[in-house]
Amino acid sequence: MNGMKKIGIIIGSLRKGSFCRRAALALIPLAPKGVELEILEIGGLAMYNQDLDEGAPPPEWVAFREQIKRIDAILFITPEYNRSIPAVLKNAIDVASRPQGKNVWNGKLGAVMSLSPGGLGGFGANHHLRQTLVCLNVITMQQPEAYIGGAATLFNEQGELINDTTRTFFKQFIDAFNVFINRVSRV
Ligand SMILES: Cc1cc2nc3c(=O)[nH]c(=O)nc-3n(C[C@H](O)[C@H](O)[C@H](O)COP(=O)(O)O)c2cc1C
Repeated sequence: MNGMKKIGIIIGSLRKGSFCRRAALALIPLAPKGVELEILEIGGLAMYNQDLDEGAPPPEWVAFREQIKRIDAILFITPEYNRSIPAVLKNAIDVASRPQGKNVWNGKLGAVMSLSPGGLGGFGANHHLRQTLVCLNVITMQQPEAYIGGAATLFNEQGELINDTTRTFFKQFIDAFNVFINRVSRV
């Protein structure tokens, strides 16, 4: 891997005041030297329908697949919806996994962070997502695990992270992901 390392961030929420988006924005300036974090938007992707892949697929699908091809690694930051991941996130994952045989996730390096205002920190979503990443051959960092609970208390009204313990953890997390990427890329 030469030059700047690009990590895409996919946020599993479309909400304007999303805690997951706030977490992503807090992580971006914590990126280690040589690493660029970029949010990849998924809200404009039509629901996956295989018929559309049999002709000319929607341009947003094509553009999203190209974005995934270009990044070195992917960080998912997701809320939990009914103990799983939100449909919008699953849709984005499905879109980039098709057409059959052209799964652009294949071999990407990945990491997962889940957030919730509740105490469990989106544990269920985190592990449902990991199950799908196994199927798509996203080589996913195991440790540190990131289940961010009490999300409503972590940000001020401007959406800025105000909890120093969480900031320290975010820094450890993104540094660990960088080390993981370097280690696995060298194999
Ligand atoms: C359809 C739906 C289902 C939800 N299910 C869960 C859940 O299973 N576990 C949980 O901790 N929070 C659940 N929540 C609450 C979300 O954690 C909360 O809305 C959170 O703020 C969403 O993330 P965001 O702030 O990034 O949008 C649910 C919310 C919605 C809208």
